[in-house]
Amino acid sequence: MTYVVNEACIKCKYMDCVEVCPVDCFYEGENMLVIHPDECIDCGVCEPECPVEAIRPDSDDVSVKFLEINRQYAEAWPNITRKGEPPADADDWKDKANKFETDFSPNPAAR
Ligand code: SF4
Ligand code: F3S
Repeated sequence: MTYVVNEACIKCKYMDCVEVCPVDCFYEGENMLVIHPDECIDCGVCEPECPVEAIRPDSDDVSVKFLEINRQYAEAWPNITRKGEPPADADDWKDKANKFETDFSPNPAAR
C-alpha cells in the first residue's frame, strides 16, 4: 500500500505535503511531485495537507493511472524534504482537469 500523487498536483505544486512525510519519500519534478511507492509507509498524514486533494491512497480510482507514473519518476527526480516556493500562478491551475495530457513535464526540478 502507498499513497499516490495524481495530476491535480501539476502546475500547482504547493509542497505542503513534503514537510510532514516521516520517511521523506517525495520526489520533485519540474511541475509536480511524486511519491516513491516502495518507500511510502502508508501513514496518510500527507493526504489532508494538499490543498487540491492531489494525494490519494492507491485504492482510490484516480490513483490507478498514476501509480506507475509515481514509481517511474520517483526513480528519476531528486528527493524533496522542504517546502519551496510554489509557482506564482499555482492558483490558476487548481481547478483544471486532465492536466497530465497537456501540462505534465517529465523534467526533474531545476536545482
Ligand atoms: Fe509520506 Fe505517509 Fe504520505 Fe506516504 S502516506 S508519502 S509515508 S506522509
Ligand atoms: Fe502537489 Fe499537493 Fe503536494 S499540489 S506538491 S501534492 S501539497
